[in-house]
Amino acid sequence: MSDVLLEARDLQKRFVTGGGLLQKATTIHAVNGVNLRIRRGETFAIVGESGCGKSTLARLLLRLIEPSGGSVHYDGRELTGLGAGAMRALRAEMQFIFQDPFSSLNPRMTVERIVGEPLRLHRGLSGGALRARVAELLRRVGLRPEHADRYPHEFSGGQRQRICIARALASEPKLLVGDEPVSALDVSVQAQIVNLLEDLKRDLGLTLVVIAHDLAVIRHMADRVAVMYLGEVVELAETEALFTAPRHPYTRALLRAIPVPDPGARGATEGVLGGDLPSPAAPPPGCRFHTRCPFATEICATTPPVLTEAGGARVACHHWTRLPAPEISALVARTRSPAAEARFALWRAATAKSHDPNHNRETAP
Ligand SMILES: Nc1ncnc2c1ncn2[C@@H]1O[C@H](COP(=O)(O)OP(=O)(O)OP(=O)(O)O)[C@@H](O)[C@H]1O
Ligand SMILES: [Mg+2]
Repeated sequence: MSDVLLEARDLQKRFVTGGGLLQKATTIHAVNGVNLRIRRGETFAIVGESGCGKSTLARLLLRLIEPSGGSVHYDGRELTGLGAGAMRALRAEMQFIFQDPFSSLNPRMTVERIVGEPLRLHRGLSGGALRARVAELLRRVGLRPEHADRYPHEFSGGQRQRICIARALASEPKLLVGDEPVSALDVSVQAQIVNLLEDLKRDLGLTLVVIAHDLAVIRHMADRVAVMYLGEVVELAETEALFTAPRHPYTRALLRAIPVPDPGARGATEGVLGGDLPSPAAPPPGCRFHTRCPFATEICATTPPVLTEAGGARVACHHWTRLPAPEISALVARTRSPAAEARFALWRAATAKSHDPNHNRETAP
């Protein structure tokens, strides 16, 4: 069995918008030639500024949308060529968790119907067996069996995300893809959901793909990270390597943009990323980052760099070997601050003390 669960090969997505009477159609290159291999059992994170194509890439990976080019391979099978029947069977193994749990839950359905639907469809359960399995899943995500009779509006944001996770678990997935699964939640609740996902990953042997803009969350959760800029992966590295030895100027700029917990950690010479993200309808030629890069030279404006091996990581930059060393200690301090770690450690300590499943629960409404 290959250790690669999910692979993207030269994956592309273009959206055509406009094109009315008075308007010219524009083509948005949302994902532009992405190559990735996600290993079984790892937590793989995707980061980058708003609009860089993270959600589009995640949807392509699960074939929730069709690519404009390239292919996706899941467990050795090419998804892009599968018919509806074969895709339906595989879909149970690949579940998506959205940013906003409220809009992804039908307000007119009870929690039992929401969580029970995949059990009926994929497992053929009904009656008492179905109810028992729903109760088990609710407990698994830190809710109570009696929550099954309530409706989504009766829950807090964190609890709703737990309902979404229970629904995803109902089809016994191998792969969970979370698109900003905690960013709509209160900070105090975020750590609980992050820890729940980590526990589920460990206990059920899941592979996780997580999109998050909070780099402290990524540093805490991820084994490897892909950094995206304007539809392309510019750096792909093990999490520790990415945070302690970022290679791409854009990765360095992203790390610099993290709020500084300790003013003494300041001292940037490259400065925080300036300028706006160029429009994906008219991406700059050459290296797409060259218009904002402090190290750009002539070649960057004309020749797109290829994502290549870079000391254990992969980076797409003409100059990465010649760049001055980033101020690592300052960068590290920002994601390893006591405040960032405490968010996760507090709740973890509470669960470690007791294996009572109720510990994984918020106050009932
Ligand atoms: N259905 C669509 N039709 C047209 N353009 C789209 C569509 N979906 C996404 N886009 C465009 O594709 C680009 C990438 O969007 P995407 O939602 O993947 O970015 P993102 O990295 O997830 O951003 P965010 O962090 O804000 O969620 C953006 O320019 C967006 O406007
Ligand atoms: Mg998005």
